[in-house]
Amino acid sequence: MNNLIQQLPKTELHLHIEGTLEPDLLLELSKKHHVDLPYKSIDEIHAAYNFEDLQSFLDLYYLGASVLVDEDDFYQLMWRYLLKCKEQNIVHTEMMFDPQTHTDRGIPFATFMPGFVRAMDDAAQQWGQSSLLIMSFLRHLTEQEAIDTLAAAKPYLQHIEAVGLDSSELGNPPEKFVRVFEQAKSLALSCVAHAGEEGPADYIWQALKLLKVDRVDHGVRCVDDPKLLQTLAETQMPLTVCPLSNTKLCVFDDMKEHNILDLLAKDILVTVNSDDPSYFGGYLNENFEALQQALNLNQQQLIKLVKNGFTGSFLSEQQKAHWLGKIDKLV
Ligand code: ADE
Ligand code: ZN
Repeated sequence: MNNLIQQLPKTELHLHIEGTLEPDLLLELSKKHHVDLPYKSIDEIHAAYNFEDLQSFLDLYYLGASVLVDEDDFYQLMWRYLLKCKEQNIVHTEMMFDPQTHTDRGIPFATFMPGFVRAMDDAAQQWGQSSLLIMSFLRHLTEQEAIDTLAAAKPYLQHIEAVGLDSSELGNPPEKFVRVFEQAKSLALSCVAHAGEEGPADYIWQALKLLKVDRVDHGVRCVDDPKLLQTLAETQMPLTVCPLSNTKLCVFDDMKEHNILDLLAKDILVTVNSDDPSYFGGYLNENFEALQQALNLNQQQLIKLVKNGFTGSFLSEQQKAHWLGKIDKLV
């Protein structure tokens, strides 16, 4: 089974590039830029990555991102993750980045965008890596700040496929961001939003009805609302589920309690993703392996989850058909 997990061509649809910052690069960059961190070693960093909820993780995630300063830092971050894609046979990845985490520290789009895009171009040239960017707004900040961020991104829109919504969910419902999502749509950007990670099923309804998203990030709290389950199944709305993230952030106490296979059985278009792999103890293949160990994921379920990743992606219909055909030939 682990062989098949490795061999299958896969997508990743829910990945925060800032969440791929590994402890070694974190320490290296903190020295380079003289950023004072509360950790002295990789072991101390691992010991600190013990979270009780989303906010306790976000506090360390934003602290970690503070070592990303110049264009080369952003290049290195992106390059290392794209190498991981090659290693794990992730043939197409749709990566979120949080511009406000950087612009609020005085680091402009003109620094991080060229770093990201150069690494993506190099990976495309060297091994045909397919990748695109989703610009996520931080929902703990105001809608006006999101609108200003969208305006600042205008010179870079040819490199941005979609907008997203992330950070502290509770108390920051999707309805807070209706105008900025309308503006994004008018710029021909696709839309995704984190909803129903810690927040209630109603936030998923809001993401669907008010933000008119093309995909829901997490969405696992949909189980609380039978009508929502029915709608998600009927519309084949993709959910980008992140099993290791959900257990690390105590959305589920144990992987054995994760609901992804129940949602799959209800014909909901669930996909498997790693979210912030450096913080949650595994990249994409490790997420599939964790499902196999805890929930006895079988081959048929694995293939369906992997195919759902292509179906739920922003690839063209032709590209989707190409990869789905390849999977059929492999198994
Ligand atoms: N930012 C990075 N990872 C996140 C997550 N799992 N939920 C909300 N915001 C995030
Ligand atoms: Zn996320």
